[in-house]
Amino acid sequence: MRSSIQLALAATAAALSGFAVPAAAQTAVSFTAGQAAGGEAPYLARCSSCHGDTLQGLLEAPALTGRPFDVWRGKPVKNMYDFMVEYMPQDEPGKLAPQTYADILAFILGFNKVPPGEKPLDGPPPADQIIPK
Ligand code: HEC
Repeated sequence: MRSSIQLALAATAAALSGFAVPAAAQTAVSFTAGQAAGGEAPYLARCSSCHGDTLQGLLEAPALTGRPFDVWRGKPVKNMYDFMVEYMPQDEPGKLAPQTYADILAFILGFNKVPPGEKPLDGPPPADQIIPK
């Protein structure tokens, strides 16, 4: 088994050489089915007026499912979380509690058939958790 120092060195070397951090350093995002269900109410209250009740998108607000969501796959879940906190809800960016953003994100992940896990998603999420492709 490689030590964590060796892994860290490998990750640093990979980052310096322009390669992605090895897949072994990443884990699939974890959220619970209950958390995803609980995120629906705040989604409907704070997001659906622009993104639609079924995440289909309305007017200039993009869908949060289908191809627009696929863009977020294979990348850290933190990317999507940080975007949401910085820019959403567009009429009141950053105004929700960190855990509310995480619960809404869990709802969006569940809606897009990302498999739930054992542990809830934190707000903000750990940097090594990836939205699986
Ligand atoms: C007042 C309308 C409005 C509300 C409310 C709103 N959004 Fe948005 N959202 C937009 C618009 C417009 C865009 C596209 C422009 C942009 O990316 O800034 C967008 C973009 C996004 C994106 C990026 C989509 C992509 O793939 O490019 C995400 C994710 C998102 N919103 C999530 C949310 C969440 C979560 C909420 C609720 C907490 C929310 N939005 C509330 C209007 C809104």
